[in-house]
Amino acid sequence: MDWKNRRHCNTISSTDVQKEIQLYGWIDAIRDHGHLLFVHLRDKSGMVQIVFNSEENKTAYDLSQQLRNEYVVSIKGTVVERDADSVNTHIPTGKVEIMVTDLTILSESETPPFIITEKDMFGNDTETHYVDEEIRLKYRYLDLRRTSMQQNLIKRSQLLKVIRDYLSEYEFVDVETPVLTKSTPEGARDYLVPSRTHEGHFFALPQSPQLFKQLLMVSGLERYYQIVKCFRDEDLRPNRQPEFTQLDLEASFIDEEFIYELIEGLLVNVYAAEGKTLPTPFPRYTYDHVMDTYGSDAPDLRFDMPMVTVTDILPNSGYKIFNMIVSKGGLIKAMRIPGQAEAMSKNLLQNELAMGLIPKLGGKGMTWMKLIDGKLESNIVQFFSEDEQQQLIDRLGAQDGDVLVMIADTDHQLVKDVLGKFRLYIAERQGLIDTNSVTPLWVTDFPMFESKNGKLHATHHPFTQPDGPIPNKSDTEALLKLKSRAYDVVINGQEIGGGSIRINRSDMQAQIFELLGLSPEEIDQKFGFFVEALQFGAPPHGGLALGIDRLVAMVLGTDSIREVIAFPKNRVAYCPLTQAPSVVTNDQLEDLHIRTTPSI
Ligand code: AMO
Repeated sequence: MDWKNRRHCNTISSTDVQKEIQLYGWIDAIRDHGHLLFVHLRDKSGMVQIVFNSEENKTAYDLSQQLRNEYVVSIKGTVVERDADSVNTHIPTGKVEIMVTDLTILSESETPPFIITEKDMFGNDTETHYVDEEIRLKYRYLDLRRTSMQQNLIKRSQLLKVIRDYLSEYEFVDVETPVLTKSTPEGARDYLVPSRTHEGHFFALPQSPQLFKQLLMVSGLERYYQIVKCFRDEDLRPNRQPEFTQLDLEASFIDEEFIYELIEGLLVNVYAAEGKTLPTPFPRYTYDHVMDTYGSDAPDLRFDMPMVTVTDILPNSGYKIFNMIVSKGGLIKAMRIPGQAEAMSKNLLQNELAMGLIPKLGGKGMTWMKLIDGKLESNIVQFFSEDEQQQLIDRLGAQDGDVLVMIADTDHQLVKDVLGKFRLYIAERQGLIDTNSVTPLWVTDFPMFESKNGKLHATHHPFTQPDGPIPNKSDTEALLKLKSRAYDVVINGQEIGGGSIRINRSDMQAQIFELLGLSPEEIDQKFGFFVEALQFGAPPHGGLALGIDRLVAMVLGTDSIREVIAFPKNRVAYCPLTQAPSVVTNDQLEDLHIRTTPSI
């Protein structure tokens, strides 16, 4: 292989005319013109046209008749300028072509299960051909041969370098932490690895390196980071993978402001590498505010459609359902959909949305009105007095041409949840989202605990420091009101990262575990080593982890995080390529002291 003199396809230009060059690559497309065979040759850099001419080089031409798509070849040839009328403006190398003098077929290929080229010979077909994702994942090595997928991986690698460079300027040290470890509570099920040498014992794959990074702070490393795989056996959603990558970091003798400044700077650099500007400082909103105003702890603020409470305006309206709900202590929230009165028909609002969508989102109903020529119009406005109508208009800041919607229920959480989901749905449906905008924010002041099935759970994780004195364990109401020093960074409605200032005192850590219902034996068995470490001079510290797959997908604007992961699992946590997970032999199971019972 002449790798020293080899040129890459995309680098060939008019300045190379008359040069003899060596190229290696794959056959992207072939066009036969009788005694001339035109071929697009592709390598990781891009494409260039190579030409076999039966009159000028019969040996190479004769061999070229065997070429098929995806064959791997070595060619030597002379660069020539194309005639003005045959310039291909669709590829960067379109002004030149290479007259082949020597061809070697290095490897043949079966007909691929899908089309790999992303351009036809005329350059018109720039769209990636649609292929079912299962097939793409089964033949991922071919899928990754496509230029667009290679670009995703190359850009991911470049963005990771931006992150590493940035953090090393801040003197963060890249430390690897164990993959065979003990369970860390991040709220998902663990992937377990049975031990051969310790019968009946299991390692857990880390849901995050949380405990190790805190131990590194106890060690005095002061600034740690790692770009690390994490494993979580949880219900899959489009932006989740069972194994995914975090940028995990931790620092000592810092507070929230350090993290905000550090992460804003990092994200600005990451976006800048893709030519995008991020507005700083990121706005900060409390958890209570975003839940109340957007019905989500990861609100999409690319569009401003806040939910407004109007319960106090309608305590005794003529609308019976509202009266009943208000009399039972319920909540009415309203939202303004700007400028959509004409675009949203009565049929859409009533049948498709109020009767169709809202029940699917978990709501019991939705009322709607349009503001036209200063007056509210709908099938229910007659139930509201002039004064009530005017107050609604004023409270919402409604303008002519707006649609107003209201949801009421005795369950306050349900109102926020349903209207929050409706907000997202309708903004997307009506094209109200500025898809070019990047809108980051911090969510702060999360509750320390949440209640699930009557038990307290840590909203972030149990190592997060409470933001105030810890109430008595019998005072559940006060415990649920306690805030924590946790923060999330959200961009365009997706949680990109989360972290907190940590507990650095062992007594407080033990107290939190106890509040979470762990017995002293359980604390000792699960976290004894950690609580002990906190007894040996743990500095104040805190950190955060960014979801790298989510971040890269967002920066590159891909539809799913699977587009920026080389070998992802499918929607049911399965790898169609390697067919993992798979059965293992009885001998292997025996070694691991595992017996399976046949399923009935
Ligand atoms: P958290 O659980 O919030 O925090 O995770 C941090 C970020 O990781 C991303 N993420 C995921 N990405 C893809 N697939 C998944 N299944 C998945 N789960 C999480 C999200 C999320 O914001 N140890 C703490 C961090 C800390 O406190 O420092 C932690 O792991 O973008």
